[in-house]
Amino acid sequence: MDEAIESLRKEALAALEACRDPAALSEFRVAYLGRNGAVKGLLGRLSELPPEERPAFGRDANLLKRELEEAFAAREKEMGGSGGGDADAVDITIPGRRLPRGHFHPVSLVMDEICGTFSAMGFEIAEGPDVETDFYNFEALNIPAHHPARDMHDTFYVSESILLRTHTSPMQVRAMEERKPPLRMIAPGKVYRCDSDVTHTPMFHQVEGFLVDESVSFADLKGVLSLFITRTFSPDTPIRFRPSFFPFTEPSAEVDIGCVICGGGGCRVCKQTGWLEILGAGMIDPEVFRSVGYDPEEVSGFAFGLGVERIAMLKYGINDLRLFYENDRRFIEQF
Ligand code: DAH
Repeated sequence: MDEAIESLRKEALAALEACRDPAALSEFRVAYLGRNGAVKGLLGRLSELPPEERPAFGRDANLLKRELEEAFAAREKEMGGSGGGDADAVDITIPGRRLPRGHFHPVSLVMDEICGTFSAMGFEIAEGPDVETDFYNFEALNIPAHHPARDMHDTFYVSESILLRTHTSPMQVRAMEERKPPLRMIAPGKVYRCDSDVTHTPMFHQVEGFLVDESVSFADLKGVLSLFITRTFSPDTPIRFRPSFFPFTEPSAEVDIGCVICGGGGCRVCKQTGWLEILGAGMIDPEVFRSVGYDPEEVSGFAFGLGVERIAMLKYGINDLRLFYENDRRFIEQF
């Protein structure tokens, strides 16, 4: 075989072997097999040869062309590409790749469920600022400066009179300041306390609820909360209203449900009492009505506040508060 043909053959096969992607393959095709490529150039030299050498040279050059075309096709297939637009290279029977599906965080799920339950009872949903003033978070809720109840709140202060709200109760005041009764509202949101251990996180979620009208009684509070609890847990959940104290309600109560873990027999979770506290509530204190310009002789109302993480833990049997905030996908994917 002609030396020129043999050396082009070696060069071209090495170049083809070195192709690593479809772009390189395409360059190879132009350089060696294209209209102005090296093989065409070889055939062009035919006329320069003595007539007796032409047939053999022509035959060898054409053999090289075919060999390179076949090698090119094989390399293209090997790369899995269809640089030449080969429809067979796409296997339409391969099942599609599924997009990963997201999951709602259990706190979001429970929050939505709580909002849904109260919406169905005619409560509006309102949201307020996370950064609050001392007035809305404390003062107007009958917690003046130096009141011992402030100690319970472990407040993050931004300045002397600005803070991160420690509860969603300020929304009672904001709503009542803006509107006249009747009012029936819930206020879900984040709250902040300077506290962090196994059972406390510096940020958690609450839902505040309140209803103000003429002649609202404690019986109304009991009815609404009982309906909420039986909807959230189960229709036969035992419920207990236990006397308590909050500066912004009088009388005040804490509400317990029969322990969902042991069914009331007594266990570690309910500290052997058979009961679990799930929320605080009461009749809105006349002082709160006065601070928003309502006449406590004319209106009455109830309020309640609940912790969303706590309810989520009881509903889903989650035994460690920290799981909510570790962002471990294996945890979130279960909901
Ligand atoms: N704000 C209270 C807290 O964060 C919860 C609460 C208790 C809200 C009684 C209320 C209520 O509206 O009446 O601990």
